[in-house]
Amino acid sequence: MWHFNKEKPGLFRSNIFRITAALSSLFILIQFIGPRVTRPVVTHPLVASPEVTGILKRACYDCHSNETRKNLWTELAPFSWVIAEDVQEARSRFDFSTFDTLSKAQQQGFIWEMVNMVLDEKMPLPGYSKVHPESGLTSRDISVLKAYAVSLNPAVYHDSLAILDARRQRAADKERPVDLPVSANGVAYSSIKDYQHWQVISTTNRFDNNRSIRVIYGNDIAAEAVRTNHIKPWPEGSIIVKVVWDIIEEKNGDILPGRFNNVQMMIKDSHQFKQSEGWGFAKFTGEGLVPYGKDASFNAACFNCHKAASEYGYVFNIPLPDGENMAVNH
Ligand code: HEC
Ligand code: HEC
Repeated sequence: MWHFNKEKPGLFRSNIFRITAALSSLFILIQFIGPRVTRPVVTHPLVASPEVTGILKRACYDCHSNETRKNLWTELAPFSWVIAEDVQEARSRFDFSTFDTLSKAQQQGFIWEMVNMVLDEKMPLPGYSKVHPESGLTSRDISVLKAYAVSLNPAVYHDSLAILDARRQRAADKERPVDLPVSANGVAYSSIKDYQHWQVISTTNRFDNNRSIRVIYGNDIAAEAVRTNHIKPWPEGSIIVKVVWDIIEEKNGDILPGRFNNVQMMIKDSHQFKQSEGWGFAKFTGEGLVPYGKDASFNAACFNCHKAASEYGYVFNIPLPDGENMAVNH
């Protein structure tokens, strides 16, 4: 016993030494194993204004491109393992270094998704934002990205969003009629009366005999369903609004949204609209918001045509998370 006690301190000391030595060698060894952050050659980088690329480079390129900036943590295991996995996962979703191989419609779909992820504070990854406070996006940055997304649709004029914003504001300032109309199938205008503040899901022009600009809005439930791709079926309470303006074509070729033409909507209420997969439709025309349809049977007519979009939960005009845009112009 006495012997043992005497030797204990020595043994203890040498254990500390051995553990430290073992840990140090392990630390050196692990530097040679595990996943690494690779930086392949950039082949088809995103082509956009310096303003747009500047924002994305600052906030997103460390993970979603081949231009991951080097720092101690990206090079030092085991931290570099975690980062390498995030980067690989991020690049597999979309990669700004090959972004230009995507179609404009796909690029547009991704940019919309990015805007949504940033607004929801899901991107940049929260852990990353903490260490990189410079990666935060301002509301101005987000407007720049939104405007860029719109510009990618060749059918939409670049400044149409700004003009629509101005109009929206003016419309919101106007006094609303006290008696809001209700459609013959029971769908009420009151359920969409503040749609101007909803998320813009998509914008399209129609340059056939019925020249118009349309903007598609979704309420929070619908916008979230688009973002998370939960549209089969769309969740209860989803509302999608399509606002149609006439087009003014100026002499110099500029196109402006003209008079308000009509607003159409779809509301998901499986209890009330069993016959049409839960969708209730309505259309209100002109400044007076006159409801369409003599009786409730018009709902079936709207629905029958929307069956063509059954694959997308009966909604045509949504930017799909896989980047394709279903916008059908007819
Ligand atoms: C620290 C690394 C990191 C940064 C920085 C980062 N992301 Fe991500 N991102 C990821 C990872 C990992 C995923 C996949 C897993 C997930 O969705 O959480 C992802 C997924 C996404 C997706 C979903 C893509 C899809 O279709 O699956 C979007 C959109 C996105 N990021 C946008 C952004 C934007 C915009 C920025 C910059 C403002 C950004 N990310 C910055 C790591 C990052
Ligand atoms: C002839 C076929 C057809 C009929 C009938 C029809 N729609 Fe549509 N609807 C479409 C197509 C195609 C789109 C997508 C292109 C566009 O925006 O014009 C659309 C888009 C919409 C949208 C925007 C969401 C989406 O699916 O993209 C709403 C809301 C809408 N329609 C409501 C109605 C209402 C209300 C009626 C009945 C009064 C109706 N529709 C009748 C074909 C039809």
